[in-house]
Amino acid sequence: MSVIDFHSHVLPRIDDGSHSSEESLGMLQISASQGIDVMAATSHFYATEDRISSFLNRRRCSEERLKERMNQELTKEERIPRLIMGAEVAFFTGISRAERLEELTYEGTDLLLLEMPFTKWNKSEIEEVRYILERRKLRVMLAHLERFLMIPGNKKRIYELMELPVYVQINAGSFERWGERRQISKMIRKKEQIFLGSDCHGIHHRVPNLKNGREALEKMMGSTFIDKMDKEAAVLLGLEDK
Ligand SMILES: [Fe+2]
Repeated sequence: MSVIDFHSHVLPRIDDGSHSSEESLGMLQISASQGIDVMAATSHFYATEDRISSFLNRRRCSEERLKERMNQELTKEERIPRLIMGAEVAFFTGISRAERLEELTYEGTDLLLLEMPFTKWNKSEIEEVRYILERRKLRVMLAHLERFLMIPGNKKRIYELMELPVYVQINAGSFERWGERRQISKMIRKKEQIFLGSDCHGIHHRVPNLKNGREALEKMMGSTFIDKMDKEAAVLLGLEDK
């Protein structure tokens, strides 16, 4: 069964993640050493700064640069995670009606990794997510949902959002903090399933750490939970038979 990292900034020089192809390769090698099979490259997309077409162009160039480096540096025997293209799409007002939103989903899927705003949410944000699900017919994975619990007064909205058929992605690093671990366990009870991402940005800072998160989650929920999560994760990305 594949071990999947749903959230990373592994592509070189496209956002605040990896600074070079060399660093990206290092991130992939660290992930490989942690038993990761698939890594989603979810570079930041901000509609305020970028157009979807130019983002996709930059992402393709970045991927090509990295693959070139991999061809030069890797020996035939060396195994590194398979890369899947994606985007961490920052919420903006009007996102539910944005043209070409479909093109920002994980490669080959209709699953969108959505980063909600770091402000107190209103009803309108929840309604936009509902519109994306119901009218745009996309599936939505909420990036590091636990991070938004830190925003005062937001908890009610988070649980309202979880009423929708969304997927919840949790950052592996959040298991290191006791308070957050407690909140994650509440979220699991509510949603019954979560998916993990490293949200790694480099080899020195915010490093690949999915293994630690998986171990902490296993301690919390048991190995059957992890097995089920891995199975569902592969189905979500359409990788179950590959
Ligand atoms: Fe991220």
